[in-house]
Amino acid sequence: MSTHNVNPNGDEHAVVPHGEHAVVPADPIADPGLHYYDERLTDVDKKAERRAERQVAGMFALASLLTVAFIVFYVIVGIHPDDPEDGVNIGDVQVSNLTLGLTLGLALFLVGAGAVQWARSLMSSPEVVHERHPLRSDDETRAAALADFETGTEETGFGRRKLIRNSLLGALALLPLPAVILLRDLGPNTGESPGERKQHTIWAEGVRVLTDVTFMPIRAADLEIGQLVNAMPATFEDLPEHGPERINERAKSPVMLVRMLPEDVHVAPGRENWGVDGILAYSKICTHVGCPISLYEQTTHHMLCPCHQSTFDLSDNGKVIFGPATRSLPQLPIAVDSEGYLIAQSDFTEPVGPSYWERTR
Ligand code: FES
Repeated sequence: MSTHNVNPNGDEHAVVPHGEHAVVPADPIADPGLHYYDERLTDVDKKAERRAERQVAGMFALASLLTVAFIVFYVIVGIHPDDPEDGVNIGDVQVSNLTLGLTLGLALFLVGAGAVQWARSLMSSPEVVHERHPLRSDDETRAAALADFETGTEETGFGRRKLIRNSLLGALALLPLPAVILLRDLGPNTGESPGERKQHTIWAEGVRVLTDVTFMPIRAADLEIGQLVNAMPATFEDLPEHGPERINERAKSPVMLVRMLPEDVHVAPGRENWGVDGILAYSKICTHVGCPISLYEQTTHHMLCPCHQSTFDLSDNGKVIFGPATRSLPQLPIAVDSEGYLIAQSDFTEPVGPSYWERTR
């Protein structure tokens, strides 16, 4: 036998005792019908309607102006220096990114915001119930759908509200232009390409090898077996304090010096004199995607990249023995000068860092 409980809202509901089945009424939930349609201000006030229309058109017009501003900023904020020797100025790149991002981002936002405002305040919004039906509608239904579409077109006022329609068409017509303008960046490169810039570093014959950060010259005799030292070329100190050249060389030139027993080194043909008493120098930039590496395992002479675990054998010409890297670590030929300090014999003989499509070596 059922009893009745009262829930916290004061509604009474039946409780079915254990072992009995509840009797489900034939129509347990009455159809609540459609919500009452709340008229909006723009439905009853012509002034409010015109104000909303101007707001929408204003947003579309502003989107057009911002799209034009994008193109203007693209042209006037140049990131390519007149003299290619100067390299790209990082400050110019930041200003260019900021202005292009702001103008295009705001233009897209305003087109979206204008469309939302148009739908919320001006388009008709009665609630409609549509029963599910087979996917292929009969001809009568299709004709009705077409009629509904035409009614909808009429209710949105797309044909009637010329100001909104034209400003939207203008904004949408201009929006693809930035994509077309940006194609210029795929065009022929004036000056040195990024690939060409990676082909060389500031290492050169006779350049001293300095400890990184403290920039002290390194005596070959001071390095112990098993030791690893991060190093930079002495020419790095001559670069201007600020500017792209220093940043680029900071990324390309670091090397790792390691010392191992000379009998552990497997020298490749042509590299017989690239080391000094078991001291070898390798690029510190991983050949996978360019992470700086330093995780050295003394006993195996393996160097592990922390990013994706590429492992290089420094006793075997920097060969890849594990991981996604496909190229050996570039080796820097080194020697000692008359005072016993380590120097480079030349620049790297191949580009350092990750592979790229226009590599020539
Ligand atoms: S960057 Fe070194 S393994 Fe990916």
